[in-house]
Amino acid sequence: LSVNTSFAQQTFKEQHRPQYHFSPPANWMNDPNGMVYHKGVYHFFYQYYPDGTTWGPMHWGHAVSKDLVKWEHKPTALFPDSLGYIFSGSAVVDVKNTAGFAKPGQTALVAIFTHHNAKLEHEKATNYQTQSLAYSLDDGETWTKYEGNPVLKNPGIVDFRDPKVIWYEPQQKWIMTLATKDRITFYSSADLKTWDKESEFGATIGAHGGVWECPDLFPIMHKGKQVWVLLVSINPGGPNGGSATQYFTGSFDGKTFIPEVEKTKFIDYGTDNYAGVTWANTGERKVFIGWMNNWQYANVVPTKGWRGAATIPRDLDITEVNGERYLVSKPVKELEAIQKVGYKKASLALKKEVDLSNQIKDANGQFRLDMSLDASNDFHILLHNKLGQELMVGYDSQTRTYYIDRTKAGKSDFEAGFAKKHTAPRISTSKEIKLCLFADAASVELFADEGLSVMTDVFFPDENISSLKVVSGKTKLLKDVRVATIQSIH
Ligand code: FRU
Repeated sequence: LSVNTSFAQQTFKEQHRPQYHFSPPANWMNDPNGMVYHKGVYHFFYQYYPDGTTWGPMHWGHAVSKDLVKWEHKPTALFPDSLGYIFSGSAVVDVKNTAGFAKPGQTALVAIFTHHNAKLEHEKATNYQTQSLAYSLDDGETWTKYEGNPVLKNPGIVDFRDPKVIWYEPQQKWIMTLATKDRITFYSSADLKTWDKESEFGATIGAHGGVWECPDLFPIMHKGKQVWVLLVSINPGGPNGGSATQYFTGSFDGKTFIPEVEKTKFIDYGTDNYAGVTWANTGERKVFIGWMNNWQYANVVPTKGWRGAATIPRDLDITEVNGERYLVSKPVKELEAIQKVGYKKASLALKKEVDLSNQIKDANGQFRLDMSLDASNDFHILLHNKLGQELMVGYDSQTRTYYIDRTKAGKSDFEAGFAKKHTAPRISTSKEIKLCLFADAASVELFADEGLSVMTDVFFPDENISSLKVVSGKTKLLKDVRVATIQSIH
């Protein structure tokens, strides 16, 4: 058993270790998996390689939280077996005991995941990814694989993975959204054990610079109407290179997903939010979390003893701009419990620059900045450390783009394409820009215009950020400025 024995010794104080984001106690993590809310507990599983700091035979790591902020690390939940590695997937609460795993008085949690058979892959077979089940009868503490695995065999499609299962109430059936190479295939089931193909989506729509992975399908209530959202991660082919997550809004009738527009939209335009999906069983609330990394360099980012972290959890919602629907992401409110607002100003004159460094001098690089300002001219936020390494987060009014420039932000020699400036389109038409920026040891997350334009980027400064400035060529007025420091969760 490779249950991690280094748990107890972990200090979480290593260089570049995020202090309020989820990261594994040791070793490698990638995608979030199996997120399910059950009996007041948020379960978080993740692609985990317990024996090394690069990608390897996949397990499901496990952590739990009561508030989406503080995480308790649990023993590894799923180990590879004769059918293969445990790739990404989801988990549901089988309230009606449709699969029959629960005995009277029990409720089963059921995980639906991809078995990836590396031996078959090696032999150049095409059917090495299949879908399987595991269940827990003790509220997620321990897991048993179903003896009838796999429950969905592979029809000969090389990329056939990452099942996300939801309960479709109108037709009393489960819907599985599966990534099948360059498209999504929807399946349905009454009992989670036998699956029928319903339809395919996406071969001729959306971004196709790479393989489709880690989808999610869920409804969001908007103006009294159900809007269905389909998330699809693609790698490579993201707007700033490598991995990214696109989304579609539309309708779903238990069989077919119909998108309402052709335009490709991304949930996050930064380089480091991948394979994100939402928690099951949270009612109308949809909470999303992604892997804060990019396959372009995930295996070589300069961390020691651990590699990979999650984004902050985000509430998803729908908003309209010029009659068109968009998905918005907002940091979950729960995070406010670890924030201390040390600075608050209703208005502040910005002549060339405003120096807020005093507000973060004891923050250890962990802070949040909120402010509003006129969208008619350029500005940027400068984060730098004592070594002169700096990260820029800004807005270009000519091109109507937000950007994060990490070209001079620290270590970058591990990957030729890392030191770059990334951009995101501004979607909002409002005359005022409202933004919120989160910084942790090795990441920034920008939520502009109430989460319409989002960017998440990792960076690796040799010392923590200790200076914070807002800079603009034109005299401006900053409104509702707030700087909060953020506590460590470890
Ligand atoms: C996405 C992904 C998934 C797969 C998993 C393997 O990052 O490639 O498609 O299930 O990672 O670890």
